[in-house]
Amino acid sequence: MGYYLVEGGHTIGGEFVVRGSKNAILPILAASILTQDEVVLDNCPDIADVKTSIEILQQLGCVVKQEGRSLMIDSSTIVQTCIPEYMVCKMRSSVLYLGALLARMHHAEIGHPGGCEIGRRPIDLHLRAFEKMGVHIKEEDHIFCCDAPVLLGYHIYLEYPSVGATENILLLSVRAEGTTVIHNAAREPEIITLVRFLRACGAEIYGEGTPTLMIEGVRRLHGAYFTIPFDRIEAGTLLCASAITGGNIYLYGPERQYMESTLEVLKQAGCLLRYDEEGIYLQSPKQLLSDFSVATGPYPAFPTDMQPLVMSLLTLAKGTCIMSETVFEARFRHVEQLCHMGANIQIHGRNAAVFGVERLLGADVVAEDLRGGAALILAALAAEGKSKVFGSRYVERGYENIEDALACLGGRVHLYKKDE
Ligand code: EPZ
Repeated sequence: MGYYLVEGGHTIGGEFVVRGSKNAILPILAASILTQDEVVLDNCPDIADVKTSIEILQQLGCVVKQEGRSLMIDSSTIVQTCIPEYMVCKMRSSVLYLGALLARMHHAEIGHPGGCEIGRRPIDLHLRAFEKMGVHIKEEDHIFCCDAPVLLGYHIYLEYPSVGATENILLLSVRAEGTTVIHNAAREPEIITLVRFLRACGAEIYGEGTPTLMIEGVRRLHGAYFTIPFDRIEAGTLLCASAITGGNIYLYGPERQYMESTLEVLKQAGCLLRYDEEGIYLQSPKQLLSDFSVATGPYPAFPTDMQPLVMSLLTLAKGTCIMSETVFEARFRHVEQLCHMGANIQIHGRNAAVFGVERLLGADVVAEDLRGGAALILAALAAEGKSKVFGSRYVERGYENIEDALACLGGRVHLYKKDE
């Protein structure tokens, strides 16, 4: 198992250009098979989940070329509508190929999607919506075999504003006959980006960023050239890395309007934030503060993906923070490891009480999911002494060479990988 060797006590600061968004590019890569024309994506992050997506696209028969941060996808020939289990289980967003393949080929076979084990993460909302739109679904040996001879627009009422379900219904409906309306749709920035990409390919979609999306099915989509926006969670991660080590940092790229709830928490923790048209500047306080509570929730609430990172930050704050995780039922797996480094955190159901301590001590810790792993790296940056953060493969799924990024910002972080 690969690990990050982190030497604590070095300030993280300076200037950095944030990379392209993982959670924006993954649905767009699935959406690229909705057109037989070439799609060109720019500002692509070089992360494991993108590599897995390319493997899936090639498995389906697409030709994918990479030049620097650009990806060219030619899906004029789809030869396969079944995605093997070993690919599907690597990441959650593999489920989006269900909607894309059904829209393009009217048939799809995929296993249960993988991804971070932060809860059960069922796909019932996806499947129920699909059935309403004419998809016949059979589950045999954990494989979903789906046929959709005719796809018809429908009014879908989501019980929960699921990001993935909203994305999957968008992919299924853009070429369906008639009008689809998604009620209680997710409002995340990544939904807005996906709609903009689909619209660039000729889709007719209205209401992105609101709880109601309306899609007028069209017969075909054309190719597009599209730039992936900056990753708001990577930006939040680096702001926290600087704040936990007493640094000052300027990030080029992140759009303030999509980070308001995260920035508000950093301000409550005592950070000074400044903005200009190109990015965000953070100045750390002498002493972090934490006498407040924060709850995760669907956008525009505080993002669940930032919960582990802000928790790390607040382990060294003066005061107590009650953090409520309302989105995923098992997203506190980093807590035990943070306590192993000297943090004082108590879990009560979906709430964690983070009691600030004077110091963290370097230790060997194990990541069990993507953002939890990044949170452990942040804690190690501020801890006294050295730490080994095992489970680098989780972190590599969503952060492009985070060891290099932190090293060029003043950190002492090295990645050691044995054969995984
Ligand atoms: C996306 O996951 C993101 N992943 C997650 O980021 C993010 O945490 C999450 O949205 C919430 O913002 C990608 O975009 C690849 P959901 P997704 O469907 O789509 C329940 C990261 O670290 N639910 O909005 O899986 C589900 O169990 C990752 O980058 C159902 O019950 O999130 C969860 O409790 C982690 N049935 C809640 O809804 C369903 O059919 C939110 O899930 C679907 C979801």
